[in-house]
Amino acid sequence: MKLSKGEMMTRRKWLASALMGGGLLLSYGALAVQGLLYVLPEQVKSKTRKLFAGQLSDFHEGKVKALFDLQGNQILVKRQADDLKAYSTVCPHLGCRVQWVESDKQFFCPCHRGVFREDGVAIGGPPADAGQRLAEVPLEVDRAAGVVYIEVKDIKRRS
Ligand code: FES
Repeated sequence: MKLSKGEMMTRRKWLASALMGGGLLLSYGALAVQGLLYVLPEQVKSKTRKLFAGQLSDFHEGKVKALFDLQGNQILVKRQADDLKAYSTVCPHLGCRVQWVESDKQFFCPCHRGVFREDGVAIGGPPADAGQRLAEVPLEVDRAAGVVYIEVKDIKRRS
């Protein structure tokens, strides 16, 4: 079947319009997806990473050793006999930096005078009133190798 010149133009116009419309639709779709990714909260993989914290012999009885996680937050590791515990230095009250006070054998937050026992439980200031404690950081001791690891949040990545 042979098409007339007028019918060919109509088909060409229709095909051109369909391609242009499809292209526009794809462009606006891609723009909408990018806009949604920008507006919606970032989905973050909550992966953790095991970091070498030191030799077991580096951690001395009754002492606290400061380490840093991958975000640069300080972590305090305390050894009591054979037991090692790691604590975040972020105060659970309003996020100030908690420090270890060797003479008092306590953690202290200078912002609102929050005081924490050696096991991280708040015993003074607003954190005690709220029944808060310092967050523990997972810690692993490989006694055979004499090595200590801490488990920290990995660097944020988009999923
Ligand atoms: S922020 Fe630490 S006591 Fe308020």
